[in-house]
Amino acid sequence: MAVWRFITRILPLVLFVGAVDKGNFKTCDQSSFCRRLRNISIDNSKYVLDLEALKVYDNVVEAQLKNTEADVTFKFSLQALAGDTFRMQVDEIQPLHPRYKVEVALEKDPEPKKIELLDRNNEQVSIKAGNNKVILKSNPFKAEFYENDQIAAIVNSRGLFQIEHLREKPAEGTEVEGQDPGAWEENFKSHQDSKPRGPEAVGVDITFPGALRAYGIPEHADKFALRTTGKGGLEPYRLYNLDVFEYELDSTMAIYGSVPVLYGHGPEHTIGVFWLNSAETWVDINNSKDANVVSSLVNLMSGTKTESRVDVHFMSESGIVDLFILMGPTFGDAIRQYATLTGVAPLPQYNTLGYHQCRWNYNDEEDVKMVIENMDIHDFPVDYIWLDIEYTDGKKYFTWDPIRFPHPLEMQANLTKTGRRLITIIDPHIKRESGYFVHEEALANGYYIKNKDGNVYEGWCWPGSSSYMDVFNPVVQDYFADLYSFERFKGSSDALYIWNDMNEPSVFNGPEITMPKDLLHYGGWEHRHLHNIHSLYTNLITYNGLMKRTPNKRPFTLTRAHFAGTQRYAAIWTGDNAAEWSHLVASIPMCLSEAVAGISFCGADIGGFFHNPDQELLLRWYQAAAWLPFVRAHAHIDTKRREPYLYSEDVQRRIRSALRQRYAHIPLWYTLFWEHSITGDPVIRPLVYHYPKDVNVVDIESQLLIGNSVMARPVTESQATNVNIYFPGGPTEIWYDIEDYRAFTGQGNVNLPVSLDKVPVFYKGGSIIPRKDRPRRASTLMHDDPFTIYVALDSNKSATGTLYVDDYETFGYKNKEFLYIRFDYKDNTLTSTFINKDASYPTKEWIERVVIIGAPKTIKHAKLVSKGLGTVKLETSYINDDKALVIRKPAVSLRETFTISLV
Ligand SMILES: *[C@@H]1O[C@H](CO)[C@@H](O)[C@H](O)[C@H]1NC(C)=O
Ligand SMILES: *[C@@H]1O[C@H](CO)[C@@H](O)[C@H](O)[C@H]1NC(C)=O
Ligand SMILES: *[C@@H]1O[C@H](CO)[C@@H](O)[C@H](O)[C@H]1NC(C)=O
Ligand SMILES: *[C@@H]1O[C@H](CO)[C@@H](O)[C@H](O)[C@H]1NC(C)=O
Repeated sequence: MAVWRFITRILPLVLFVGAVDKGNFKTCDQSSFCRRLRNISIDNSKYVLDLEALKVYDNVVEAQLKNTEADVTFKFSLQALAGDTFRMQVDEIQPLHPRYKVEVALEKDPEPKKIELLDRNNEQVSIKAGNNKVILKSNPFKAEFYENDQIAAIVNSRGLFQIEHLREKPAEGTEVEGQDPGAWEENFKSHQDSKPRGPEAVGVDITFPGALRAYGIPEHADKFALRTTGKGGLEPYRLYNLDVFEYELDSTMAIYGSVPVLYGHGPEHTIGVFWLNSAETWVDINNSKDANVVSSLVNLMSGTKTESRVDVHFMSESGIVDLFILMGPTFGDAIRQYATLTGVAPLPQYNTLGYHQCRWNYNDEEDVKMVIENMDIHDFPVDYIWLDIEYTDGKKYFTWDPIRFPHPLEMQANLTKTGRRLITIIDPHIKRESGYFVHEEALANGYYIKNKDGNVYEGWCWPGSSSYMDVFNPVVQDYFADLYSFERFKGSSDALYIWNDMNEPSVFNGPEITMPKDLLHYGGWEHRHLHNIHSLYTNLITYNGLMKRTPNKRPFTLTRAHFAGTQRYAAIWTGDNAAEWSHLVASIPMCLSEAVAGISFCGADIGGFFHNPDQELLLRWYQAAAWLPFVRAHAHIDTKRREPYLYSEDVQRRIRSALRQRYAHIPLWYTLFWEHSITGDPVIRPLVYHYPKDVNVVDIESQLLIGNSVMARPVTESQATNVNIYFPGGPTEIWYDIEDYRAFTGQGNVNLPVSLDKVPVFYKGGSIIPRKDRPRRASTLMHDDPFTIYVALDSNKSATGTLYVDDYETFGYKNKEFLYIRFDYKDNTLTSTFINKDASYPTKEWIERVVIIGAPKTIKHAKLVSKGLGTVKLETSYINDDKALVIRKPAVSLRETFTISLV
């Protein structure tokens, strides 16, 4: 929820002005440190690495790095880490104040790796770790990273490296030559930033030779492939968690989340860089493909081959230089290396992958009951119903409105009876009202964030005057986590999960709708040092609170703001989008950017939060959302009701079918989330992830892969009668339409006709996809349902796939209570094996059908062999013009392995 919907309720006339007010947010030129770092001239670095005193230890190289112009020396280290990663750190030797080092974002201390010294002389030192080599150059300082002897990334390639040493404030009235006027104090609109520590910015530039594109650094409402920014052109991509009302598309503006990991991708390799910094950050990108036509012509005339490359420049307001180089070489490797550092999403409950029905607001208990009843009457599956801020007693979190929600426990118990659960919102601002227990306790114990003078900070948010828990204080963390207990959050039960909104944090009357940077946190840190990681602490607290409250159930939290590591605690959504086709289009690249930045559990509000979607847009949105990891409909309080049962029979039928497709595929999503939790592989993937050498896919963002087996191309165009689809993989790759089993090869672009019923989705030949095809009202009611196994054959008539099952909600899997099954099909035989032979689960699930897509046309019947059933003859029949063969009723339990052979 954005600030303006609050204000618009007071001033209804300004509602739906329909565009972001850019004047509320800074440009790089309005920010002193961004101006300073962007103004460094290229190829003129004043940093020199002292190679003589450089020391090479087992896992780390240590040296001194000197700024020869300012005559300040810094400590430099380069560490090799397990999993083909390097970490470069630069900090002051004796800073005037300590510089902020980010905690919590890294899951644990990274494991070191052995370094070997290859060569050293006066100009450079070469070291090796595994297959990777680094050359450190002295003057000017540069660090070149080689993957298998191929240059992959160069740090300080253009000489933009900078670390501003902390210094005493010049006496009042002293002019410091060349100093930016905002270095010691700056104003934005009516807000003043007192900057007690003065300038302390850090920046680094990195070049990816051979790269065609850069991806990552969410969150932006922009393309998946990052665009060229630069002076006089696009603003740099900004990372500063902000509550932006009616955010604009195709924009590098900051919005709610900041994940500072970026990948340079070329056909040879994909290399990642993770800039671990929680201060406001801007990132300039220069992709050589965007260089102007003139220079390409010059190159053409002179016959020189221009090698493609991408240059990036990270600029942060404070902190140390802490840069991880993820050496790939594949996109998947680089993402897994990032996951090794910041962690993975733990396995969610199965039902969180179902459909979530939300609105600001469901008005009262009766409304909640009616919505669920109507969903049942009209046969729409739903697992969660959500309550936005109005459920509280006057915007006091951990309370209920006594008139509208007098029986919260009974309401939750009623929901549970039909297999549903509840989610309520808890925001980090606390209403300053005497008698409100949270406020009184926080005030009495000094738990609130302080302003620069040390008094409790007061800001304006939903409740009006509010203060904010200092989530960086360990005592506050315990206190806040405990508020989620049944004793403290009266009226909550284990059927209730949490939505953390407004945690950028959003402050309606603050600079850029957030906190002043000179507020003081625990440990004496200013808000500027840790702004972007604020939400991570709120999510950690919620996670810990839910774990303490219900230790045997997997917690669920949805968060709006996010940072590196958020995946360990929460799912995200793309915030307050709008009911416009362009916002539907953007939902795919936005979630793909999050997925490659470690946060797979992502979705966008179905229908668009602001404004009213027409029927076609709403329908297409459901159809698209069914193929993203998190599926939730949500709407602004001023929009018309839009629960799916309110539409015509035709629209209802199509939405129902989209949701049923989703529910049928939850076993696939669940298996992918399991695999993500083991390997860090993203659940959804851009085409370039699996087809890195195909230069045609580097900009494709209207299509996505679910795991490696499904490709979706949601229809996101109004009144589409056909859509363009790119089939990757070359002539031997086969893609089967999941509805009629029509086969396409990896032939490139195809124009496919689409009706309103059609969502182009394809199974890749060579995959096996487990499904539960019996429609139910909630996924919780499907736990024991049987599977249909879809076998999509490749050009060699083989296929493989996996299926993970357990009790779908507890931590039993940590005690090996699960089945992780691999299916292989070759030589006309389907075989199942257990991947984890030491795990077991007494599931009631069984296989009711096998569908073999692309099966030979001469099959008479099938034969099942298993220990429990012996040898059984099975009926088969062809469907869809013989495009697929159905094997009926194998009726074999998942608890035993089997083979099914075609005869
Ligand atoms: C930019 O750098 C030049 C010198 O390279 C300097 O003269 C100028 O004052 C700087 N501008 C700002 C805004 O810092
Ligand atoms: C991008 O880099 C090229 C050289 O590779 C340079 O000519 C161009 O000016 C740069 N563009 C921007 C916007 O900085
Ligand atoms: C719970 O369900 C019962 C039975 O339908 C109903 O009478 C009661 O009003 C419901 N309670 C709430 C809070 O919805
Ligand atoms: C089919 O088998 C051949 C030979 O083993 C192999 O090279 C090829 O990659 C396989 N094709 C597919 C689509 O897996």
